[in-house]
Amino acid sequence: MSRIYLSPPDTGLADQAAINRAFEGGWIAPLGPEVDAFEVELASVTDRSHGVALSSGTAALHLAMLLLGVGEGDRVLVSSLTFSATLNAIRYVGARPVLIDSTPESWNMDPDLLAEALESGEYAVCIPVDIYGQCADYTAIVPLLAKHGVPLVSDAAEALGATHKGEPAGSFGAMAGLSFNGNKIITTSGGGAMVTDDAEWADKARWLSTQARDPAPHYQHSSIGYNYRLSNLLAALGRSQLSDLKRRVDIRRAHNMFYREALGHLPGVEFMPEAPGNRSTFWLTTFTVDPAVAGVDREAVRLHLESLDIEARPVWKPMHLQPVFAECEVFGGAVSARLFEHGLCIPSGSSLTESQRDRVVTEIRSVFGRA
Ligand SMILES: Cc1ncc(COP(=O)(O)O)c(C=O)c1O
Repeated sequence: MSRIYLSPPDTGLADQAAINRAFEGGWIAPLGPEVDAFEVELASVTDRSHGVALSSGTAALHLAMLLLGVGEGDRVLVSSLTFSATLNAIRYVGARPVLIDSTPESWNMDPDLLAEALESGEYAVCIPVDIYGQCADYTAIVPLLAKHGVPLVSDAAEALGATHKGEPAGSFGAMAGLSFNGNKIITTSGGGAMVTDDAEWADKARWLSTQARDPAPHYQHSSIGYNYRLSNLLAALGRSQLSDLKRRVDIRRAHNMFYREALGHLPGVEFMPEAPGNRSTFWLTTFTVDPAVAGVDREAVRLHLESLDIEARPVWKPMHLQPVFAECEVFGGAVSARLFEHGLCIPSGSSLTESQRDRVVTEIRSVFGRA
């Protein structure tokens, strides 16, 4: 039996045909008609006026910091429960992350802790993360930030296709970052995008991401630029993948419902909640195992799955527990620490078959049966 992965790329013949078409069109260079069309389609799916196709989601967040003028020593509010890329983008511009713990209701940025932080200091920007495909509580967060005049950049890397109160992930705040990394809902093997309603920011992001070239026939530069643009070939793959977004999200959601029904009754097991008003992509299905109730811990489950070539991973280790970010200020911390200690992500990809899913369930149940 072959290994069951957590969230492998879901690609097919239509994707291959799209890349071939782009190849035959002759636009092998970074720019081209597929990039332009992909940007329009990304803007449409996130209900934005503009999209900028980039080489990664990290690049999108980095450019967002540059466009907002965030710099050395500025303080940036950010979810502690995230992947390091979110904080790396803050550090690239020399700013200082201020970490906000999760609320147990959605595992996302806790608006009460955010309010506390906002009362106690000045901040250049706030980056809530839509963790595991569920939007942060923008209904609470947007007015809080508006009251304090702090711009919002949404990290929607894991949430393309999700909604909050009917509004799409990526539509909140000044700008949002998306990722098309190999493990995401749609993939360009590696890639990302920044989406915004501001034409000037979009233009400036395109300029910065192509080495900030001044308008001149020769190569002239009066700013530091970046090589962050997505290639035309990969944009063709992205377009093909994006055309199938609904199916991809529906399948991940169906996996989640299936796992909840099959495993939700196990003692000590609690699935990541979907907060009212949210429709998550359930990019990854995740749950916590309370060892005092279950008689087994998360690691026993993970190691058993691994011994059978089934990939499962602990929930993100929050940033306030990461050695590289240990010096950062943090508001709260116990909730995401507990999620990391007890949480597990299980195979959730849109190419996961029913028989693979059954195998995952059988093996998880067997660990609990031994308790
Ligand atoms: C929450 C979050 N933010 C940012 C990123 C960075 O995206 P990329 O890998 O495309 O740079 C990722 C995923 O990789 C992520 O999960």
